[in-house]
Amino acid sequence: MDYHKIPSPSFVLEEEKLLKNLELLKYVQEQAGINIICALKGFAFHAVFPTVIKYLHGATASSLHEAKLVYEKMGVKAHTYCAVYVPSEFDELQQISTHLTFNSLAQWEQYKNKVDKTISCGLRVNPGYSEIGTDLYNPATPNSRLGIAHHLLGDKLPDGIEGIHFHALCENTSHTLERVLASFEKLYHPLIQQAKWINMGGGHYITRHDYEPEHLIQLLKIFKAKYPNIENIILEPGSAVGWQAGVLVSTVLDIVPNGNIPTAMLDVSFTCHMPDTLEYPYMPNIRGQVEKSDYEYNMGGMSCLAGDFKGTWFFEQELKVGDKIIFEDMIHYTTVKTTTFNGINLPSLGIWKDDKFELLRTFGYEDYKNRLS
Ligand SMILES: Cc1ncc(COP(=O)(O)O)c(C=O)c1O
Repeated sequence: MDYHKIPSPSFVLEEEKLLKNLELLKYVQEQAGINIICALKGFAFHAVFPTVIKYLHGATASSLHEAKLVYEKMGVKAHTYCAVYVPSEFDELQQISTHLTFNSLAQWEQYKNKVDKTISCGLRVNPGYSEIGTDLYNPATPNSRLGIAHHLLGDKLPDGIEGIHFHALCENTSHTLERVLASFEKLYHPLIQQAKWINMGGGHYITRHDYEPEHLIQLLKIFKAKYPNIENIILEPGSAVGWQAGVLVSTVLDIVPNGNIPTAMLDVSFTCHMPDTLEYPYMPNIRGQVEKSDYEYNMGGMSCLAGDFKGTWFFEQELKVGDKIIFEDMIHYTTVKTTTFNGINLPSLGIWKDDKFELLRTFGYEDYKNRLS
């Protein structure tokens, strides 16, 4: 990739890498006999939705706008789960959904007589087990508001409910899923025996280099064999679709020498453009970084938030104004979570394919202004 031909800053999706992810997901889908759908909260790069829909079985939406995007750009109706449904949006939402999952029994009671007969309804439950270190990303804690707690459900699915949904993984392996399933089955065995479908949520890092797809396939086959009543198992990863499928291209605008370690001031911001690096938190990789050298730098975001920096990284040579800094693995979640805090512009969006860069979208003052009034 010749970064000098790419406007800075830009999120650049590398098509070849996306296709590799999609092929693996399709393989798992076919071998295990399940449906994999794309979670828009993690991957909403809609220019490639026509490609995604050739491999996956559709998409999951967590709001009216996500469902609309699925309908418009993938040409299919969504599996929809909203943590809470908005009364004024419900009719429009159900017109573009095949499945609706409810987060509480009260929400189901509120909407059950309004749901169109063609829609398959489900309940989200808390499976009672997860292995997620950061509470911000853990939906299966004992007091979580996401998913009905076990003690609130009896041994019979409410009339009209056909599916059970759980989401308890975050960047986890199939071995963690195995332990989540053990807890889920222990708590909900009679209900699973009555369901037509089970949605096992997202967080399956199927496309990461050390994931064991064959173990996942076996696990799903065993589950299916145990419950012949289950017609469909659904997985809804977001991250795995866009995992390592592109970069954020940025440029050094200044080098601030304050303190012990100099800071390369970039034309991007951690808080605006890579918020998970601060929230999770984690250190993104930079292309060309080395393990140790004499050239050690912090990277500074362009907002005036004091904590809008991260560090440190080492490089082979001294950084200069104008150098490109390429943050790896910046396609999932980042592009949907960006903000215009400080009036900072959003990075452009583009695709690298057939050895060429295609610019899809640029942003400007109007995008900032139109979010405000
Ligand atoms: C209900 C639900 N499904 C799917 C996902 C996608 O998870 P991931 O992108 O980690 O695969 C999430 C993420 O928060 C979620 O909350």
